[in-house]
Amino acid sequence: MIEKINESKAFIDKVISNKKIETMIILGSGMGGFEENYEPMHQIDYKDIPNFLTPSVEGHAGKLSIVSINEKLTAILSGRAHYYEGYPIQDLVIPIRTFSLLGVQNLILTNAAGGISNTYEPGDIVSISDHINLTGNNPLIGKNLENFGPRFPDMSEIYDKGFQKLAKEVSKNHFEFKTGIYAWFTGPSYETPAEVQFAKNIGADLVGMSTVPEAIAAKHAGMKVSAFSLVTNLAAGISKNPLNHEEVVEIADLSKQKLQGFMKEFLSELNLDN
Ligand code: HPA
Repeated sequence: MIEKINESKAFIDKVISNKKIETMIILGSGMGGFEENYEPMHQIDYKDIPNFLTPSVEGHAGKLSIVSINEKLTAILSGRAHYYEGYPIQDLVIPIRTFSLLGVQNLILTNAAGGISNTYEPGDIVSISDHINLTGNNPLIGKNLENFGPRFPDMSEIYDKGFQKLAKEVSKNHFEFKTGIYAWFTGPSYETPAEVQFAKNIGADLVGMSTVPEAIAAKHAGMKVSAFSLVTNLAAGISKNPLNHEEVVEIADLSKQKLQGFMKEFLSELNLDN
């Protein structure tokens, strides 16, 4: 595994002439196109980067853009591969570990999610305050990579409180600030109403099929993490209607302006503060 990560790092290092990258953002369903807000210094398809997985799902381009925000290099990863696509979970976090070696300290994750909390409606943007991993899997299973972090890393504050405070501040110009706990299911089937009820009973506000492996690997590597869900639908059973991916993509598209406006300002502030 470490050989793969070193190989990916060496490839990107060459492209960016060994400069340090400070911040990384992964764009989930519907957030693609955000990179067009910036003049890219470099753009590379994942398929051309050794060991990066190419997403197979609509709405996930699979493209890395390196941009400068407040004079700090920022990696924008448009699209991600998911566990339900059949990849080993350790391979899903190769980009996180690669960018950790490239100097990244701030990670922002975005996703589309189903809303459980009765304070949410489709189109809302929610700052993730914590997560529940319901899959029984973990990207740190296997030999521990000591140069990233310890065998038994602390997870009591994965989603950085300082970043959450900043998100609350910045959101004032964009939308009503909401927070929530994200429950990770593998998918690809949507949850059953009973599963959603279970997630609700154990404290979850959102359900989704991504983000958690990346957040765990990033925290292990000592990164500061923040994550945002775009609520594209009410979760199964909370919504009276059956769920479908087209609707998820459609709502994500409708709300993307709002999330992008927020994210531009958030990234700019983040790269000033740190
Ligand atoms: N469940 C899981 N993942 C999702 C959902 C959902 O309801 N909506 C968007 N991604």
